[in-house]
Amino acid sequence: MSSLTDQLQSVVAGRSPLIYLLSPEEDRVLQGLRAVAETAGGVPVVTWSCVSGLEGEADAEATRDPVRALQAVSRRPGAGFFVFKDLAPFLSRPEVARALRDFYYSGRDTVYRHVVVISAELVLPESLQKEIYLVEVSPPSESEIAEQLAQARQEHPDYGLPAEAAGEVVLALKGLTEAEIRQVLHRVGQQGHADKDRILDEIFAEKRTIVKKSGYLEFSPPRYDIDGMGGLDNLKDWLIRRRKLFSREALDAGVPIPKGLLMMGVSGCGKSLAVKVISSLWQVPLFRLDMNLVFSGMYGTPEEAFHKALRTTESVAPAILWLDEIENALGMAEEGIKIDSHIFSAFLTWMQEKPPLIFIAATANRINALPAEIIRKGRFDQVFFCDLPVDEERVEIFRIHLKRNGANPDDFDFKMLAVMTQGWNGAEIEQAVISARTDAYYEGRPLNQRDLSAAISKIVPLSETMEQQIKAIRSWAFSRATPASKYGRRRVG
Ligand SMILES: Nc1ncnc2c1ncn2[C@@H]1O[C@H](COP(=O)(O)OP(=O)(O)OP(=O)(O)O)[C@@H](O)[C@H]1O
Ligand SMILES: [Mg+2]
Repeated sequence: MSSLTDQLQSVVAGRSPLIYLLSPEEDRVLQGLRAVAETAGGVPVVTWSCVSGLEGEADAEATRDPVRALQAVSRRPGAGFFVFKDLAPFLSRPEVARALRDFYYSGRDTVYRHVVVISAELVLPESLQKEIYLVEVSPPSESEIAEQLAQARQEHPDYGLPAEAAGEVVLALKGLTEAEIRQVLHRVGQQGHADKDRILDEIFAEKRTIVKKSGYLEFSPPRYDIDGMGGLDNLKDWLIRRRKLFSREALDAGVPIPKGLLMMGVSGCGKSLAVKVISSLWQVPLFRLDMNLVFSGMYGTPEEAFHKALRTTESVAPAILWLDEIENALGMAEEGIKIDSHIFSAFLTWMQEKPPLIFIAATANRINALPAEIIRKGRFDQVFFCDLPVDEERVEIFRIHLKRNGANPDDFDFKMLAVMTQGWNGAEIEQAVISARTDAYYEGRPLNQRDLSAAISKIVPLSETMEQQIKAIRSWAFSRATPASKYGRRRVG
């Protein structure tokens, strides 16, 4: 028996007369219900839609009205799965709620007698929440996907779907609906001989489209090499050691999969850059959740939108979910006052229960706004503090940006540059190199030490203008976070 029928079996075993199945896969759920009805000894399955009315009625058209359909169902004796396809939008009508309650009380003691609502959206009025049993139907499980894949291979031998590496393909397909999986397989199959890489590319493209449709999740392409990040060696080491863990083999071997990482610290020290690096290093797609859009009201209440965003991320796992400036994202105001505790507590619960192949990468600046629960061990695997880079690290960052801007790093005096940029962050170093390059380009020559020194002298670093804030951030992080730099707490500036 498949995971879907298992799930539906246990739903009907609860004997609730009214069941709400939340799923975008009407056909698949209906098929599952038919299979359950069959094993229950041939329970009749009767469907209703607002276009065709109730199946099996002499005057089906007259039962297009949901109240009349529900009354007709209440009059039918005995067991039956009465599957209402389009009922969700009508639930807020008082006469529909009444007709449902009448059904609820009329058939409570009969086994296998249910009105089942299937809907892709959750629209359950509060007044009915006690009587209706709500179930979120899981998307196809790995075994169901494997079955679908095997079947596709049998039906379309010309597609050349590979039998080896099936495990990897199945894992990548997880989270998609049955119909989406079918489309992906047909698309790759019809383009010619499908090898594993082509299928995986196509699957990730499909997932990106799904995410795009959501509106508030944004795909960030894996373009950031770990060598383009200077310093932060503890953090790099941590990431490198875990690069093989986001895989089928690690999951099967029972190796604990990392849940998430919180990076806090001084502005411009590479927190956001580090998140982008994880995606390239681990070869796992990265999705940034735009909390401003979640809170905008364009996608329903913030709670609904946030819940949907987490669900969408689950559907595209394995994935990295990036929450930038988490203190704003989770509705925490200055000094730790929560302005939206619902979202915050929903997030903490979700972090505990989320599927293993989603990694949370969170960044925070105003760390004193973070409540203790979020930092507590167990939520994030590690909390890193990104401080201003020390001399050696600034030199590394200079080298990276000089190279990126077409200069030969060997032509520069790094001792002097290190002295000139005490207390600077990575973003400021980058800014100096870019400005020096622009000036040199204007004069039609490659950039040199003099351009760079001139550019440096024009920039006032944050550590001068925000000295007090940076001191406060450091003393706060001192006892609470691990230094991202291998130089630990050796101080600069
Ligand atoms: N360690 C670093 N190595 C190389 N480049 C760096 C480093 N730190 C910062 N940069 C450069 O500065 C840019 C800005 O850094 P980033 O956005 O990662 O900082 P941040 O810590 O997220 O800052 P904020 O708190 O303001 O969001 C990066 O895109 C990168 O070009
Ligand atoms: Mg940032």
